[in-house]
Amino acid sequence: MSRRTIVITGASDGIGTAAAREFKKRGEDVVLVGRDPRKTEAVGRELDVPFHVADYADLDQVRKLAAELYEYPRIDVLANNAGGIMGERMVTGDGFEKTFQVNHLAGFLLTHLLMPKLISSQATVIQTSSQAARVFSDFHIDDLQNERSYSPHKAYGNGKLANILFTRELHRRYATQGIAAVAFHPGVVGTNFANETGSVLRFVYHTPVVKNLFTISPQKGASQLIWLAEGTPMVDWEPGAYYEKQKVARTSRVAYDEDVARKLWDESVRMLGVTE
Ligand SMILES: NC(=O)c1ccc[n+]([C@@H]2O[C@H](COP(=O)([O-])OP(=O)(O)OC[C@H]3O[C@@H](n4cnc5c(N)ncnc54)[C@H](OP(=O)(O)O)[C@@H]3O)[C@@H](O)[C@H]2O)c1
Repeated sequence: MSRRTIVITGASDGIGTAAAREFKKRGEDVVLVGRDPRKTEAVGRELDVPFHVADYADLDQVRKLAAELYEYPRIDVLANNAGGIMGERMVTGDGFEKTFQVNHLAGFLLTHLLMPKLISSQATVIQTSSQAARVFSDFHIDDLQNERSYSPHKAYGNGKLANILFTRELHRRYATQGIAAVAFHPGVVGTNFANETGSVLRFVYHTPVVKNLFTISPQKGASQLIWLAEGTPMVDWEPGAYYEKQKVARTSRVAYDEDVARKLWDESVRMLGVTE
């Protein structure tokens, strides 16, 4: 396969770093995006690849990131991988509930701003979603910011469900223009995940004995992303679908509601003040 440009967000740690290492080993042109400048630079230097920094809790940083990424001649794969579960409900300076913004809105905005480049590159756009979309979500299109009731799990599950709805709608709107969209669950992966929450998940991911029992390695988690990025859409995997262990998988029934997917897209556009 010829060298491609692969942009990975959330690449300063965990699954994103493991994927970046593997892509680099395979001779791809990797572009890293992280939040923490020091961590992102360290991975960039280790792999000798370009890196960019943006905190998704600040949408101006996402807009600046999009402008920086636009300078690359092409983007063959955009892996929207940044995300995680948060603590108590917080509203960002942009006025949105933080879990929703970091897991959905920011990646939506980045993809939207890069769209002409993605189309000219005939790109694959991959969302790192989660089984949490099925297990923890309680999704209401009229309460995207979890104002009526909030728990870190529910907000996270809804954010990851939004990743799948976004994938389906991205496919519906842009497949004919050459965009291949897909979402996946990486497994229960032993990373820095759940570091920012007080939920029981923090105990699972950050207690060594429990972590060893219940989680797989970041390399294994990243192998799902690599399989999708290296595969050929419509041959190896089905565009618009949600995958677990390299198979189309069942997720929340809300994910299959085309009307909800369309409304989430429209509402995201409205919230961000961008045009279609
Ligand atoms: N681990 C699991 O079991 C699991 C399961 C299902 C899905 N996922 C999903 O997999 C993705 C990667 O997570 P991981 O397990 O690799 O966790 P991780 O080790 O905590 O890595 C998360 C990555 O996302 C970045 N990030 C977090 N908050 C951000 C923000 N506000 N703005 C920009 N970037 C931000 C982090 O940046 P910094 O490190 O620079 O702060 C880091 O690069 C996430 O979307 C997560 O929801 C994980």
